[in-house]
Amino acid sequence: MPDKRSILIMLDPDAQTSSFDRVVATDAGVDQQFAYANVAPDQVQGLVHGAIFTRGMDDLKRTAIFVGGSDVEAGEKLLARVTETFFGPMRVSVMFDANGANTTAAAAVLAAGKHVELSSASSPTALVLAGTGPVGQRAARLLAREGVAVRLASRSLQRATAAANAINKTIGNSLVTGIETRTDDSLKQALDGVAIVIAAGAAGIRLLATNIRETAADLRVAIDLNAVPPLGIEGIDVTDKAKAIPHAASSTGTIIGYGAIGVGGTKMKIHKAALRSLFESNDKVLDAEAIYQIGKSL
Ligand SMILES: NC(=O)c1ccc[n+]([C@@H]2O[C@H](COP(=O)([O-])OP(=O)(O)OC[C@H]3O[C@@H](n4cnc5c(N)ncnc54)[C@H](OP(=O)(O)O)[C@@H]3O)[C@@H](O)[C@H]2O)c1
Repeated sequence: MPDKRSILIMLDPDAQTSSFDRVVATDAGVDQQFAYANVAPDQVQGLVHGAIFTRGMDDLKRTAIFVGGSDVEAGEKLLARVTETFFGPMRVSVMFDANGANTTAAAAVLAAGKHVELSSASSPTALVLAGTGPVGQRAARLLAREGVAVRLASRSLQRATAAANAINKTIGNSLVTGIETRTDDSLKQALDGVAIVIAAGAAGIRLLATNIRETAADLRVAIDLNAVPPLGIEGIDVTDKAKAIPHAASSTGTIIGYGAIGVGGTKMKIHKAALRSLFESNDKVLDAEAIYQIGKSL
């Protein structure tokens, strides 16, 4: 008997299953997609039972679940129901990447790590601008897990502090600090001593102008995840990938810059590799950290 075909059960809280998620699943080589839209948490158990009670134990690894769509919070609730439904060996592997939040954050941190050693020994400081969104929070979490001191910025000190506290609680350290960056002066202060900037603001929002960026003497790499003009970091183009960007305050006269599409290639590779890895065993739960580890191994 040939191996059973790979099946990806796609759970999406949106009205239509994401075409993006489906294209990537096809390109990753999934044989069959079962795509469910408008999925509410109380519908998850039945769908998971359909996945775990059909194939024999040896073939369970040929069935996997992907939780996607555009609403990260709604997706997190679906993921929680999926994992709660598993018991003992009765499980299939699952990947969570609603709105590309995990793969994008992983790709951004991997890009930073190519130019700055991410470890508690070297103790660099990173600034995540607009870090309260799903991508920014995950980037901050991955950086802090590597031992990096992170300033998580927002227009609101309250939102920044709440996000920072939640991350510190999750990972059991206090490396993330919430800060407010509403004014040019607060931005300059936030950049002081920072080696890495990741701009994780909403699409079409400029967060960092060149004259402010160039006050950061220790800056080595700047990564902008916003692909919609005006871009998040002035002077970094959407397609820049490890490009030398003029930076007067730096001793070399340049820093390394990445735009959203420059990071996007790695993001897509991570997404496909993570999907393929789902079919290696029936017990994987691929959230931000596991997806980042897959990115590191590529
Ligand atoms: N390259 C890729 O493949 C890819 C994939 C996914 C996402 N992305 C991009 O990554 C970025 C982050 O995604 P996300 O979903 O985490 O973003 P998001 O939730 O839409 O926004 C992130 C943060 O931006 C801040 N913000 C919103 N409106 C603002 C405004 N008018 N002025 C200043 N700040 C504002 C908010 O922070 P505060 O309210 O706390 O200030 C918000 O929490 C987006 O640009 C997205 O398009 C790229």
